[in-house]
Amino acid sequence: MKNKLQKLILGLLLLGMATACSNKQAAETEVRKGNYRIVDNTIVFDEPQRAEGQKSVLQFAVDPIENVRIGFIGLGMRGPDAVDRMTYIDGVTVNALCDIEPDRVEKVQTDILEKKGLPRAAAYTGREGWRELCQRDDIDLVYICTNWQTHVEMAVYAMRQGKHVAVEVPAATSIEECWQLVDVAEQTQRHCMMLENCCYDFFELTALNMAQQGMFGELIHGEGAYIHNLEPYWHEYYENWRLEFNQSHSGDVYPTHGLGPLCQAFNIHRGDRMKTLVAMGTPSYNGKKIAKEMMGVDDFANGDMTTTMIQTELGKTLLIEHDVYTYRPYNRLYQLTGTEGFANKYPIEGYTLLEKKLPEGFLAEGQHLNPHAFVPAEVRDKISAEYLHPIAKEIEAKAKEVGGHGGMDFIMDYRLIYCLQHGLPLDEDVYDAAEWSCLGELTAASIANGGMPVAMPDFTRGDWNKVKGYKHAQ
Ligand SMILES: NC(=O)c1ccc[n+]([C@@H]2O[C@H](COP(=O)([O-])OP(=O)(O)OC[C@H]3O[C@@H](n4cnc5c(N)ncnc54)[C@H](O)[C@@H]3O)[C@@H](O)[C@H]2O)c1
Repeated sequence: MKNKLQKLILGLLLLGMATACSNKQAAETEVRKGNYRIVDNTIVFDEPQRAEGQKSVLQFAVDPIENVRIGFIGLGMRGPDAVDRMTYIDGVTVNALCDIEPDRVEKVQTDILEKKGLPRAAAYTGREGWRELCQRDDIDLVYICTNWQTHVEMAVYAMRQGKHVAVEVPAATSIEECWQLVDVAEQTQRHCMMLENCCYDFFELTALNMAQQGMFGELIHGEGAYIHNLEPYWHEYYENWRLEFNQSHSGDVYPTHGLGPLCQAFNIHRGDRMKTLVAMGTPSYNGKKIAKEMMGVDDFANGDMTTTMIQTELGKTLLIEHDVYTYRPYNRLYQLTGTEGFANKYPIEGYTLLEKKLPEGFLAEGQHLNPHAFVPAEVRDKISAEYLHPIAKEIEAKAKEVGGHGGMDFIMDYRLIYCLQHGLPLDEDVYDAAEWSCLGELTAASIANGGMPVAMPDFTRGDWNKVKGYKHAQ
């Protein structure tokens, strides 16, 4: 009996020691750093729970808005063109304009609205004027073209005032801001679209259409970038907001032009999701030099070149690059690799396709495609015409006439208004806005930890596989 008791006590002691040991191990493998933990060599950001009463806005639509009344905030380099584009769309009224600087508002009144014989809009100025604009009861949509640092505060306030929101890229600058956009859109049941215009460029739309028709087989890898030397523009941003932001932030701070169109082709949160990323950045050479000249500082957080690899839940890979400092031709990469075909936009537009993927009689008599090369130019041009996305086809002539990066900006605005007027889900929802914008802080965290993998937040909170395949609502 005594022997049995001794054995039991010894067993309990050993068990206690083993538990203490494994707890110690867990504590050692999990390190907290601010708003994320490092768990088993992966960075995991905190994910807030959905509050009670808050409802998903996946596939969200509102009753048709026949005449969309818009208030614009931010009339710097980008904003006035947005106002101008909207004047070409039927069923749109520009009811209010706002900028810190009164002369910027006045210029849009005279040079755009009055010139077209349209009524002057209500004007708001100063740093806080935008709040009054959002409070107006004759506005359906608040269209935000201000600097990145102000996007979320304005979008959140506008939604809380019952307005739908369209906000320039990137919609948010941190993970916390991404969650704020999602949470407030869900709480207020309002649209919040990030204005990612590159999704509407002709090549991207055509390639998306081809991908959706299976021309490239199964898509397995995509590449996108923002490579644009901003040297001529640094002095133009209001109060130097852009260089100041880059000076204090490492990582891919402007990822959405490359990422947005890829996410649509890869059905992100419509059957797949971005699961993990790793990022690396070079030291800053040119950024540092500009910051020294313009800001008199010696430090510059943003590397001249930032490279990010993303793996999706289905194992597909995406490569995203950011470089706004070096002397290179403008390049958004935009490349799709599938099991049976390939599309490439920069520096030359082209496709590699298997003959069997083309309809009977598409190629000239006796013509064959080389699966190791781009299709010949005349075949590419024929493909571009034949597979032009129905949305681009519908509005191509007008888009080219109105312009805005060759017409894509107009197609974007046209689609936003079309969906609102027809009570349809928008092409880019608040989850896209969060998923595409969140790269900023995630890549910075990966870089800060020597290229450590980062688990990408699921902003849909588990709903990423409910919708099967990306579609433009019709
Ligand atoms: N999608 C694209 O192709 C594209 C191209 C250019 C810029 N952008 C985006 O557009 C946005 C604006 O860029 P930009 O080049 O016009 O910058 P900008 O500095 O020229 O203009 C910003 C404007 O916002 C105004 N503003 C700032 N705070 C304000 C406030 N509190 N109230 C009212 N107005 C305020 C400023 O006065 C300024 O006129 C950025 O998000 C940028 O990334 C997108």
